[in-house]
Amino acid sequence: MSVPHFLTLLDLPRADVLGIVARASELKRDPALARSQARKTLGLIFEKSSTRTRVAFEVAMTQLDGASLFLAAKDSQLGRGEPIADTARVLSRMVDCLAIRTFEHAKLEQFASYSKVPVINALSDDFHPCQLLADMQTFSEHRGSIAGRRVAWVGDGNNMCQSYINAATVFDFELLIACPADFAPNSELVAKNSSRVTVMRAPDAAVKDVDLVVTDVWASMGQEDEQAKRRQSFAAYQVTTQLMSLAADNALFMHCLPAHRGEEVSAELIDAADAVIWEEAENRMHSQKALLETLLSS
Ligand code: CP
Ligand code: NVA
Repeated sequence: MSVPHFLTLLDLPRADVLGIVARASELKRDPALARSQARKTLGLIFEKSSTRTRVAFEVAMTQLDGASLFLAAKDSQLGRGEPIADTARVLSRMVDCLAIRTFEHAKLEQFASYSKVPVINALSDDFHPCQLLADMQTFSEHRGSIAGRRVAWVGDGNNMCQSYINAATVFDFELLIACPADFAPNSELVAKNSSRVTVMRAPDAAVKDVDLVVTDVWASMGQEDEQAKRRQSFAAYQVTTQLMSLAADNALFMHCLPAHRGEEVSAELIDAADAVIWEEAENRMHSQKALLETLLSS
């Protein structure tokens, strides 16, 4: 039987992804319902920094009675040039699941192709599917099903934006993306999802009457050198309370965090008393626990 991986939202059957999101809410209400994963180990290989993703995975494994093992890539032989294929073959003989945060998405695919155990994308340059599980959970807990709703992405056509494109198909919503011309998401991905996804320039047009507005940093990890240039290119793309006023009356605002106040989001909006972003962050733990339960039980 082939090993299930979670490198993008499209890797598991749609019903499983919807099931993981529903299960996450269930486990949040009653953590005692979790199916024990005693004696199982999750390996975490991170080539980029992380707060939420790492802690969510480690706490989730603790609560599932399992263990996790964190490897900063630079401290392992991977950082000294041991081939990915060899690392995958060795580690997957010892642990039961691996979560990897890296740069090139192709590296994850290569790792997964040599792994005997499920591999999870803990963020690559192209996709961040774990964050989408939490975002979809958060929307459904506050506003019900997202199917048939309208969502606006404002800012960089980055890994988060591209995961929203996949989510539009899996969760059946319309996605309006406002981004500068030079920072659009992958055109093939957009074309493949053109029945649900529209790319435009103007943020106010994208957010009009939508139920959810989402943004992310203008310079992602690995793009630190471009920070100043990007600040100029994205100047018109800050999500503010004023921009939110163009969305539907009870529209939610989400951000995967970390956030840069005064850049992609105004301080006033992100620090609003009714912001759901802190719960969105908490839901990373519940949804990754549900994901692990699924992958470790398969
Ligand atoms: N949103 C997110 O993935 O946060 P970390 O980089 O802290 O894991
Ligand atoms: N787009 C951001 C997301 C961080 C969680 C990055 O890749 O750095």
